[in-house]
Amino acid sequence: MAELIADYQPGYSMEHRFYKDPEIYETEVRNILLKHWILAGHVSQVPNPGDFFLFEFDRESVIVIRTREGEIKAHLNVCRHRGSHICLEKEGNAKLLTCPYHAWSFDLDGNLVAARLMADDFDKSKNGLHAAHVALVGGLVFVCLADEPPSLDGMREDLADVFETFGFDHMKLAASKTFPIAANWKLAVENYQECYHCTPSHQEYAKIHALALAPEKFGELKKDFLETGNSAIRTRESSFYFDRAKPGEEGYQYGRNPLLRGMKSGSLGGEEVAPLLGKIDRHDGGASEFMVGPLSFFLIYNDHMVGYRFVPNSHDSCSCDVFWFVRDDAEEGRDYDLEKLTWLWDITTQADEEIIVNNQKGVDSHYYAPGRLSEMESFEQSFLNWYLTALKGE
Ligand code: FES
Ligand SMILES: [Fe+2]
Repeated sequence: MAELIADYQPGYSMEHRFYKDPEIYETEVRNILLKHWILAGHVSQVPNPGDFFLFEFDRESVIVIRTREGEIKAHLNVCRHRGSHICLEKEGNAKLLTCPYHAWSFDLDGNLVAARLMADDFDKSKNGLHAAHVALVGGLVFVCLADEPPSLDGMREDLADVFETFGFDHMKLAASKTFPIAANWKLAVENYQECYHCTPSHQEYAKIHALALAPEKFGELKKDFLETGNSAIRTRESSFYFDRAKPGEEGYQYGRNPLLRGMKSGSLGGEEVAPLLGKIDRHDGGASEFMVGPLSFFLIYNDHMVGYRFVPNSHDSCSCDVFWFVRDDAEEGRDYDLEKLTWLWDITTQADEEIIVNNQKGVDSHYYAPGRLSEMESFEQSFLNWYLTALKGE
């Protein structure tokens, strides 16, 4: 594998083995997937004590739960007796987490509180559920399974005003949808990183977003946007993403880009589809790209935010989970219509699913060889650089 990594030619796509080799995938799980923060969900999914939902990726199942004290915790869904999954429902409310196999029961904090007919020397206090790290970014719930997760402090400090402007503390999950993709997870993440494919594949998106334009045209529009945009919405760039992340810190990136002239939101006709977020009082004709770690991406319009999470399930399958957030006091039916809110990224992600699956089919061929990247794929290149270093586990 070291040879394969060393053989990578910058400016090109990667060799086919990266996309189909179960051994490489196992290394990715150890060195990448279990070491970074991943979007698990949102606090609005668990409003009451005992409310929980499962966040599942690769072979892992994590119970995200609200405790009696109102805290959000995450426990591995693996019984400390003989390992059965404990929660079998994807979401629900529980007073106790009782294993369906031999009925060991854990409280909402993960402590083992009942284990039938065990020897006197059995110590319940040493058999609590394994904990996953939890971090809240506004109401977004991130989970990390590393012993020592990368720090999010730099990002929190850097983007405090962004989180406040867009009201990250005052959003709710309005809708979500899972798109299973029969392809290696990196093809899905790489596809998300570049808009070279936007014009040929996403006509609806390309009618709204300037990012689909050729770099020169986009540059002109962005310059104009930075000069005339609503200064209440910070337009500066923050790029510590992937290959530029500081040691010990999670990679992230934030930037605001123009929409095409006259567009207000990511919707049919660029119309506003929900009340303005946070402290925004007028449209600036832009949308922010925000990324945390290698799998979680956000697109922040003025009136709603879309989250994308790419979840690897095995070396040859993954899913893209799309989340739509609106301000927490918005009411469905009165302030927003689900169909209008979700329209753009539902059809766009359906199209992406097809593109990615076709990409995998071609990469599987004996005739595939790494191909030259375009300048519109520079973020993808950053991701590949970061990925190859991370894979080494150094
Ligand atoms: S495996 Fe859970 S109680 Fe036995
Ligand atoms: Fe796409």
